[in-house]
Amino acid sequence: MVVVAGLLALSCSGSQPSTVAVPLVTPAGPTLRDRYGDLPFLTPIDAPATVALSGGPGLGGPGLSAAAGACASCHTENHAEWAAATHASAVRDLQFIAELAKPGQPRWLCLNCHLPTLPQRAQAFTLDSRLIGGVSQVESTPNPEFDPARVAEGIGCATCHVRRDADGEGIVIGPRGTGRAPHRVRADPEALAGICVNCHSPTAADGSPIAISPELVCWFETAQEIPDAAGSGSADVASCVACHMPVVARPAADGAPDVELRRHVWMGGGIPKYYDGYLTLRSRGWESGLDVRVRDGQVTLTNVRAGHSLPTADPERFLRVEARLEVNGAVVSRDVLRIGQIWDWGDAVSGRAAHRLADTRLRGGETRVWTPALSGAGDLVVEVAHVRLTPEHAASMKAAVLDAELIALWPEAQTLLPAIDEHYPLATWIFRERHERATGSVRTWTQSELLEESRRFGALPLGAKRLSLEVE
Ligand code: HEC
Ligand code: HEC
Ligand code: HEC
Ligand code: HEC
Ligand code: HEC
Repeated sequence: MVVVAGLLALSCSGSQPSTVAVPLVTPAGPTLRDRYGDLPFLTPIDAPATVALSGGPGLGGPGLSAAAGACASCHTENHAEWAAATHASAVRDLQFIAELAKPGQPRWLCLNCHLPTLPQRAQAFTLDSRLIGGVSQVESTPNPEFDPARVAEGIGCATCHVRRDADGEGIVIGPRGTGRAPHRVRADPEALAGICVNCHSPTAADGSPIAISPELVCWFETAQEIPDAAGSGSADVASCVACHMPVVARPAADGAPDVELRRHVWMGGGIPKYYDGYLTLRSRGWESGLDVRVRDGQVTLTNVRAGHSLPTADPERFLRVEARLEVNGAVVSRDVLRIGQIWDWGDAVSGRAAHRLADTRLRGGETRVWTPALSGAGDLVVEVAHVRLTPEHAASMKAAVLDAELIALWPEAQTLLPAIDEHYPLATWIFRERHERATGSVRTWTQSELLEESRRFGALPLGAKRLSLEVE
């Protein structure tokens, strides 16, 4: 994150140094509405703390808590799936906390997507609140509805399912409007399926991706990466749900009859937020989006399963493809290909705006053939890793200083962050194959073997991690 001459690059990570200029606190600026209109991620979501009971006045009472833990008492399976997915770690994410610790961060804004509903937020503000000192802070007041117990849930059930009814009471938004629920329900399948893009593909008022003002660049464009029928980009928003929430037949609530519903797994690039997350990736349905073939010294890479670019989202993610020749286990020649984006995050002194320099990602369905430059003879080993965070960048996060506000968000981060590389998976290996020169035999590692190795990678010292992930 970098704050430069009133210009803010919101990349959700980026490899900028943590010593960026702290904007001076200037008198309050324009309101959020004046500046940006009413984009959905500019304020926390007004999802009330309770959901009204169904069945009319007789059942009235105080309502059900909208906390994810409360929904769990009747929706056991949805809750278990959600709890293991990254949405539930959107705050308890070491990289996120380290990024928030950088001076001048617009924490209010980061939290709108990572801790999205109002009862989860210590401070309340609206679109009429004014910006203070650029975008680093927004005018806010203590939130009387704040429930500290709900901070840990991050993107909880209420983010997508709880809204205010016409009378101000909490109501559950569902896909079918069942009459069997003990809580109020309203069917709005479009709103549910369309919610993903609010956070994953924020767009400007004119529909263009990303830059919502010269001052604020938010670079997630997953929806725009999905070609429409005309091939011009921009998505059928419901498509996110189709791939990331697969259909299964089971009860929608404990003890209810079976229906066709969607699993709450949201599998992505296969890099969990903690090493033991690898143990359940397969059972949660994870499969890489990439297909790799090695033949005649050429590596063919195809994005077969992701409708969007691979990798998508955070601009720092990349695929690292390595080809090497080995003789008796010793590397005699090596070549590395990096597939991803390269950004210039701007410059504080000259006021240069953040901009993308290169994008070599694989579009949906795209095939790329790579001929590694190798010299000599030996057994050919090809491997591919999906890298979320470089060891260098992870190492720089160890020095992050957490203030009281951040410690309140996640107390354990104080002890976990100084050893981030032991706790936070940096990369997942998705392919490895060995072609023996002498015998012509081929050994292909299974995905389970590679996940187990990716898990063990956490125990390696930082130096060894660097060697395995360097791209130069
Ligand atoms: C418009 C919504 C939105 C805002 C605002 C936002 N994020 Fe994110 N953030 C996301 C989404 C969506 C993802 C998931 C994409 C991914 O995993 O690459 C994400 C992922 C992340 C990650 C994990 C990256 C990874 O590779 O796993 C970090 C760290 C992060 N954000 C930090 C921040 C910080 C710091 C801010 C404020 C400067 C911020 N985010 C603001 C939506 C947002
Ligand atoms: C990121 C958004 C999101 C979150 C978070 C989320 N859901 Fe959902 N949920 C959806 C969507 C989208 C659907 C509808 C899918 C479809 O079109 O059938 C859905 C459907 C459901 C259904 C209806 C099943 C059916 O078809 O009758 C239940 C029950 C449910 N969710 C419970 C939960 C619970 C409990 C939590 C928290 C543990 C939760 N959801 C968290 C997005 C979300
Ligand atoms: C006391 C039990 C109970 C609690 C607590 C509960 N639910 Fe439900 N919920 C049900 C039952 C029962 C159904 C009906 C299932 C069916 O139609 O077969 C249901 C249905 C739903 C549906 C489907 C709506 C549709 O369109 O058909 C959603 C979504 C949902 N609940 C979300 C939630 C969320 C989110 C929470 C927490 C805020 C929650 N529920 C808390 C029992 C509960
Ligand atoms: C309120 C904002 C928000 C909404 C709404 C939202 N997401 Fe996310 N999503 C995030 C953030 C933030 C992360 C990253 C969390 C992290 O890395 O710590 C994320 C992560 C993911 C991931 C990556 C998982 C991984 O392990 O790499 C997938 C896939 C995903 N979301 C799909 C969806 C889909 C599909 C929907 C709509 C049903 C949706 N999201 C709705 C904010 C959101
Ligand atoms: C055709 C199926 C498909 C569609 C449509 C699709 N995805 Fe994905 N998505 C995937 C697959 C497969 C992956 C895993 C890619 C990989 O191997 O890294 C993925 C990965 C992701 C990730 C993880 C990024 C990372 O590098 O870990 C996010 C976030 C995500 N998708 C969000 C979305 C959103 C938001 C939408 C809708 C705009 C969407 N996806 C539509 C299949 C799809």
